[in-house]
Amino acid sequence: MPTLETTVNGIKFPNPFTIASGPPGTNARVICRAYAEGWGAASAKTVCLDASKIINVAPRYGRLKDSNNEPYGWENIELISTMPLEQWVDEFKLIKDRFPDRVLIASIMEEFNKDAWFEIIQRCEAAGVDMFECNFSCPHGLPERKMGSAMGEDPEILSEVCSWVRAATDKPVWAKMTPNITRIEDPSRACLAAGIDGISAINTIRSVIGVDLETLRPMPTVEGYTTPGGYSCKAIKPIALRMNMEIATLIRNEFKGRSLSGIGGIETGEDAAEFILLGADTVQVCTGVMKHGYKIVQAMTEQLLAFMDRHGFETIEEFKGKALPYFTTHADLVDRQAAAKAKKAAAKANRESGITADEQWDGDDFVKQSDELVG
Ligand SMILES: Cc1cc2nc3c(=O)[nH]c(=O)nc-3n(C[C@H](O)[C@H](O)[C@H](O)COP(=O)(O)O)c2cc1C
Repeated sequence: MPTLETTVNGIKFPNPFTIASGPPGTNARVICRAYAEGWGAASAKTVCLDASKIINVAPRYGRLKDSNNEPYGWENIELISTMPLEQWVDEFKLIKDRFPDRVLIASIMEEFNKDAWFEIIQRCEAAGVDMFECNFSCPHGLPERKMGSAMGEDPEILSEVCSWVRAATDKPVWAKMTPNITRIEDPSRACLAAGIDGISAINTIRSVIGVDLETLRPMPTVEGYTTPGGYSCKAIKPIALRMNMEIATLIRNEFKGRSLSGIGGIETGEDAAEFILLGADTVQVCTGVMKHGYKIVQAMTEQLLAFMDRHGFETIEEFKGKALPYFTTHADLVDRQAAAKAKKAAAKANRESGITADEQWDGDDFVKQSDELVG
């Protein structure tokens, strides 16, 4: 019988399914609900020292839907937690009292100020959280104050902030990456080189969800105006998978033993399996919970276990990164295909059906000949 239990950065996760920082982790009540439904871990909504500066607007979401009316793309212009840190400290304690066996991650964000990072870490640590996730990635609102993705886009600043964070705590720390850069390896390397235990990726992709063709205003429209937001949900999964592959490759090559938490459009156990096959240790879900509710974890668990059973995998570790060796350059694909074709042609030297030149296509054998060319 396969198990989903996994140990990451020395911490035991009952399963890899983690609530991603966002509305599904906004307070103790909802985090406890998530654990009760079966989530193994939760990254709480990002906290900072002074929540009075965090002021949200409404509406702050925009969605794209498919022909079945199901959202596949979701933009938000929501900020980090509006709940004061003093209250979060009480809520962290309450959560750990009720669910000591689940992993509680404090998602933290501060300005470029060493004392501020030390203080927020010490206060959350005293409240009993198991580990930290540094939000270097919120793409809207906070960058105006040089926070969030303003830091995540700059490897030099990341190096410095991560060295403060490393000095401030012995608990595991993940750095949450923004996808709004060209090479995800650069900020990831800066954080890992500064001693951070793992990378979480990705946060939302900077976006404009659309323009209202009646009012001619961009959306979501607040008093006639908007600001670019962050895109999430199913539509971002291919981009998240690509970035996970790149970070996992970096970890394999330069930072063995560090971890990766995959995020972006995950809604099923099969989605989770794909991220793990590309090197993730755990997976996080935000928009999927906003669409389907906390119970989604039960189907995800069954689907992931069924996938493991089908392939004979007993543990997550057994298939983590298994698809990674199969990325190469386009030139290598061309060489491999040429070599395979030559081999095939040689093997079928005595048969006329091995098509290598257009003159060999035959009207009668056309379907068979087509089938033989399928990879
Ligand atoms: C409404 C909303 C609010 C979010 N707030 C936060 C946040 O406070 N901190 C953070 O690190 N990520 C935040 N995120 C980003 C998510 O944690 C996640 O990285 C992103 O949405 C991609 O995953 P998904 O497709 O499963 O939603 C938020 C996402 C949404 C949709």
